[in-house]
Amino acid sequence: MISVAIDGPAGAGKSTIAKAAASGLGFIYVDTGAMYRTIGLACMRKGVDTGSPEAVVPVLGEIAIDVVYKDGEQKMLLNGEDVSGEIRTEEASKNASAVSAIPEVRAFLLELQRDFARKNNVIMDGRDIATVVLPDSRVKIFLTASPESRARRRTAQLAEKGIEADYEKVLSDIIQRDYNDSHREAAPLKPAEDSVLVDTTEMTLEESIEKIISIIKEKIE
Ligand code: DC
Repeated sequence: MISVAIDGPAGAGKSTIAKAAASGLGFIYVDTGAMYRTIGLACMRKGVDTGSPEAVVPVLGEIAIDVVYKDGEQKMLLNGEDVSGEIRTEEASKNASAVSAIPEVRAFLLELQRDFARKNNVIMDGRDIATVVLPDSRVKIFLTASPESRARRRTAQLAEKGIEADYEKVLSDIIQRDYNDSHREAAPLKPAEDSVLVDTTEMTLEESIEKIISIIKEKIE
């Protein structure tokens, strides 16, 4: 089986680019952030403080998380309920970031993630895929862009959905999340030594997709 790891900060376009590349190559796209988001949502629903590991860890024993594919799209099930839409709110993002700093949460998801790569050709996106989850990936890409360009894209995406967001607030949230994700002790966000760095600040989405597909093809063919 062939694995492609795509890591990078929030809003760099990982999921859109990885999804497009996966469909072009006939690989399965695995979004690991969605798994952390689902655990964050489970805690929110139970009224558990995601900043407290003592409160979060017991929740892991009380929930069932499943990843299923429907028409090629990854869906997250929490105790059998499709929560794929609900995990996308700003509040869910913050809770995902908080629970992802807890080592027990990371250990809980590790086997699930590795299992996909054992059984399928995958493009897996996350923060620690090349460094921890699949260190033997054939291709390792670290996708980044300036915080300002990520905030601009995010604000535009929200506007498209009819949600008016304040650019400065979106930017400060992005900077805060980058800090949390890269300064935690457990599997912090960082490139692997052998990752290919791709900065999409000055690229269009189409250019980014093309670039990623060409890097992958070069390494797997
Ligand atoms: O990629 P995303 O925004 O959906 O990720 C949600 C949160 O989960 C993000 O704050 C970082 C965390 N995460 C992680 O720690 N490790 C991963 N492999 C994927 C996501």
